[in-house]
Amino acid sequence: MSSSPVIELIREKLDIVDVVREYVPALKKAGRNYKAPCPFHNEKTPSFTVSPEKQIFYCFGCNEGGDMFTFVMKIEGLAFPEAARKLALRAGVEYGDERSHTLTEEDKERLELKKMLTHAADFYHQALFSPSGEKARLYLGERRLSKTTVERFELGWAPPGGAALMDDLKEKGWSRDLALKAGLVTEREGGRVGDTFRGRIMFPIRNQSGDTVAFGGRVLDPEAQPKYLNSPETVLFSKRRTLYGLHEALPHIRKSGRLLLLEGYMDVIGAHQHGVDWAVAPLGTALTAEHAGLVGRYAKDVVVMFDGDRAGIAASVRAAEIFMEAGLYVRLADLGCTLDPDEFLNEHGREKFEAKIAEAADPLEFRMNLFHKGRKTPPSSQEKAQAIAVLLETVAKQSDEILKSEWVKSLASRFGVEEDSVLKQLRKTQVAPQRGIKRAPAQAVQMPSIERGFIQLLLRDPSLIERSAELDPGDLSSPLARDILAAMRELPAEARPKAAAAIAGKFPEQAALIMELAVADLGSDAAGVQNAEGAVRMLKRLSIKRRLTELNSSAVMTPQQLEEFRKLSAEIKSSGREI
Ligand code: UTP
Ligand code: MN
Repeated sequence: MSSSPVIELIREKLDIVDVVREYVPALKKAGRNYKAPCPFHNEKTPSFTVSPEKQIFYCFGCNEGGDMFTFVMKIEGLAFPEAARKLALRAGVEYGDERSHTLTEEDKERLELKKMLTHAADFYHQALFSPSGEKARLYLGERRLSKTTVERFELGWAPPGGAALMDDLKEKGWSRDLALKAGLVTEREGGRVGDTFRGRIMFPIRNQSGDTVAFGGRVLDPEAQPKYLNSPETVLFSKRRTLYGLHEALPHIRKSGRLLLLEGYMDVIGAHQHGVDWAVAPLGTALTAEHAGLVGRYAKDVVVMFDGDRAGIAASVRAAEIFMEAGLYVRLADLGCTLDPDEFLNEHGREKFEAKIAEAADPLEFRMNLFHKGRKTPPSSQEKAQAIAVLLETVAKQSDEILKSEWVKSLASRFGVEEDSVLKQLRKTQVAPQRGIKRAPAQAVQMPSIERGFIQLLLRDPSLIERSAELDPGDLSSPLARDILAAMRELPAEARPKAAAAIAGKFPEQAALIMELAVADLGSDAAGVQNAEGAVRMLKRLSIKRRLTELNSSAVMTPQQLEEFRKLSAEIKSSGREI
């Protein structure tokens, strides 16, 4: 990551603990560090760690880690310079023109991709109002969207030709490669490249900061497939982490602390047009734990409203459970008819719509209602037991203990059974493995344990570098350990207190591993110096032994190699006596 005097000034003025706490209010002191449930993945036991000493964060659950800049980049979905600008403002530091700062190639590309996508949104929007967009304009009119709404969501039209956007991008000087990376053009048979979206109504997809990061395109022809086409995943766009309409809904969501989850683009747009401006939707995928984590940063209460068909009900119950597992309060709303939310709003208006939301039931009630609906005879004991067993899965996902015990009571009373037996049954349900998202286990640091131990000591106390003068990076067998040792040597003494963040910044690919090494608890540090010196001697010996084996294995040694072999053999003998 880039470093400059401005960046250093920001680092000095701000404390990562304060920066993180703004997004993760649950952050609590735990020994040397601060801990909280991770904002980047769904979990109950806090494995997200912030170290005020090292000014870094790391999550042992999902391996996200870095310094305050990385944190803001990840949580806000920003490129480095954007995150830096934000933090500069907070620190009261003049950020100035970012061209005078150094940007990594990766950052430059992200910024360029955003520019290209913003341009594409504008291109599609203009096309909508060109003669070729007439049918699309008529269609949007039929869907009762106002001009203001079309402008607000910057809806557009992708001309059917096949290369209209690509030609325009080329003319503006953008490369075909970048357009491919943005997902705006696609390689077709025969290696030819053409527009990804053709003859579709275009919905720019924005991240929560308002940058266009992808598109959804809807066909006009009801026969054409697929009905909606979404941009592929790119460095800017991950479906699992993006909610349509979030940027537009954020002011209201922040104020009220509540969010309405609908099913699709048109529902969100229709809702906003009718003043229901706290509505968002996933992008044609099931709700993910990442979505819930994102929502949890802004809202505590969620209402889920999906289609009333079987699939819609199953999806909304599943979404509700994911929100519950993320510690949010959820209710499920049902329009009680076959209309989509946008159709319902057009037909019956906002007041009736909001009345339906007010009637929304909590997930348990919702499911109990489904069970009892349309039943003429009371359920048999066995049916009751089966239903309760299924419903307890929902109860088990409730992270609020008070609510959970209330739910046990209402289950018992609704089915006319003993509360105690429901409780016993619940305990059995809870020991069953959770269905939550499964993360890959923390990637093991590929490093022999002695090198790992030494690097951990160094990261904890960078002044130990003074005592390891005889060790060359080349003495270490792991490339990462070598890089860290070399980088540590180059670090000016005054940068040592923040060595871990600085070094992680130098090797962004390895940042998570470096963070993991840096925040690992090594217990008391009384013996640090002694341990480090011991480790240096040991590492030196191992290195010599490796070299000897290597020399030994060559068929014929050159005179120089023979000389080296003799010298090293003598060295290892004398160092053996020393120990
Ligand atoms: P729907 O089929 O319910 O569409 O899909 P819709 O939002 O009501 O749109 P209209 O009213 O017919 O115009 C719901 C959501 O599922 C995703 C889209 O995000 C859509 O908004 N979807 C649907 C796809 O990604 N691909 C598809 O082919 C269909
Ligand atoms: Mn619809």
